[in-house]
Amino acid sequence: MSINYQDRIPNNVDLGSNRTLQRALEHWQPEFLKWWEELGPKDFQVSDVYLRTATSVDAKGWATYGYVRMPEYRWGIFLNERDPNRRIGFGDNFGQEVWQQIPGEYRATLRRLIVTQGDTEPASVEQQRMLGHTAPSLYDLRNLFQVNVEEGRHLWAMVYLLHAYFGRDGREEAEELLERHSGDADKPRILGTFNEPIRDWLSFFMFTYFTDRDGKFQLKSLAESSFDPLARTCQFMLTEEAHHMFVGDTGINRVVKRTLEVMQELNSDDPQVIRNAGAIDLPTVQRYLNFWFSSSLDLFGSETSSNAASYFANGLKGRPDEAQYEDHIALEQSYTLELPDGSVGTRSEKIPLRNAMNEVTRASYVRDCVIGLKRWNRIIEKAGHTFRLTLPSTRFRRNIGNWAGVPTTPEGQPISREQFAADMHEWLPSESDQAFILSLMQGVYEQGKMAAWIAPPDRGINNNPVDYEYVKLQ
Ligand SMILES: [Fe+2]
Ligand SMILES: [Fe+2]
Repeated sequence: MSINYQDRIPNNVDLGSNRTLQRALEHWQPEFLKWWEELGPKDFQVSDVYLRTATSVDAKGWATYGYVRMPEYRWGIFLNERDPNRRIGFGDNFGQEVWQQIPGEYRATLRRLIVTQGDTEPASVEQQRMLGHTAPSLYDLRNLFQVNVEEGRHLWAMVYLLHAYFGRDGREEAEELLERHSGDADKPRILGTFNEPIRDWLSFFMFTYFTDRDGKFQLKSLAESSFDPLARTCQFMLTEEAHHMFVGDTGINRVVKRTLEVMQELNSDDPQVIRNAGAIDLPTVQRYLNFWFSSSLDLFGSETSSNAASYFANGLKGRPDEAQYEDHIALEQSYTLELPDGSVGTRSEKIPLRNAMNEVTRASYVRDCVIGLKRWNRIIEKAGHTFRLTLPSTRFRRNIGNWAGVPTTPEGQPISREQFAADMHEWLPSESDQAFILSLMQGVYEQGKMAAWIAPPDRGINNNPVDYEYVKLQ
């Protein structure tokens, strides 16, 4: 096989002159394409999709737009430029030179961290594979596929690290990344949220807002890593991740906007009246939000974690935006957790800060989530309604950590199991909510047309009009 690497796999890791890496990727690439064909977006593989492709890391090349058939997408390998002065930014080795190779004692742990991150990327593509059939417009269809191909590229980014730095173990892990599948009974994806199927577009927007944002914070933590190639890879992935969250943010905004228009037209906020008119009532939006937010919170892990403490101590995984903190050693400080007391109250517990790093990261994530809610609530307020979308408490509906399995109200008040069961249909999507949302999911593929449950976006992609032919269906 002779491949022009720069052409076929755009990269800034000098792939063209690295024979070992070439051989590893030559073996992996056909497996990847096979996976894409079997578990990537169902159908649309011969459609021309208006996509951006990264061909370099600079401002000019990181987003090159044009029509591409998805199987011909150029999944590239890019790391941010190396900063020769970069030093370890936190933990016990603070201030020392960053690592260009992996110290032997951290090999297994770093491999695990990279595999766990890498596993989420193809998982989300698998979760979303049926959504092309029910896209509310060509604009949305294109955004879905953009997210999908970039998650594919993020998989490439992690596989590159495994191949380039972990030898045989890394190659085996890279293969397994294509063998585990979302929702598979025998070989599921590693993290729970990535095994939840995404059957409808409201869930897709919630996922890209809340779960891709978890991705953002995981990447931010890894972007601080002392293992420099990992840090630089994650820094570049973050530039792409921003678009995924934009899709979620504007998607939910457009759903709310459309609902408000229908509420205005019919002069009603009765959920059934809104539904009869083919729009999504705001309480249903809130229930989907409760589900995906709480599910995403679990991805940060337990409140108290000795693993998190050692990742921090050893400089493997830092806090998002570590530079904002004054003390990068974090050995003297403590963190106070509010924990369930076993009945219907709470108790405080002080733990060493390093053991609370998951909670520190989760708290930054929650603050970031609030920004979108403020925007959505502003348009509700402007339309003259008192309804407000809210983030549930981080205690609500948790499956991991101290609050796992503890029934609480969305405000975080512990309650009895009976009360939770009695009220949960008000807090989480019921079967009938899901059936209603699914009933709205009809593909709209006419250029410039939009499904009735969502408002058009304010602007198109890359300065093109909203009614541009973003996907040329064949
Ligand atoms: Fe990603
Ligand atoms: Fe993403």
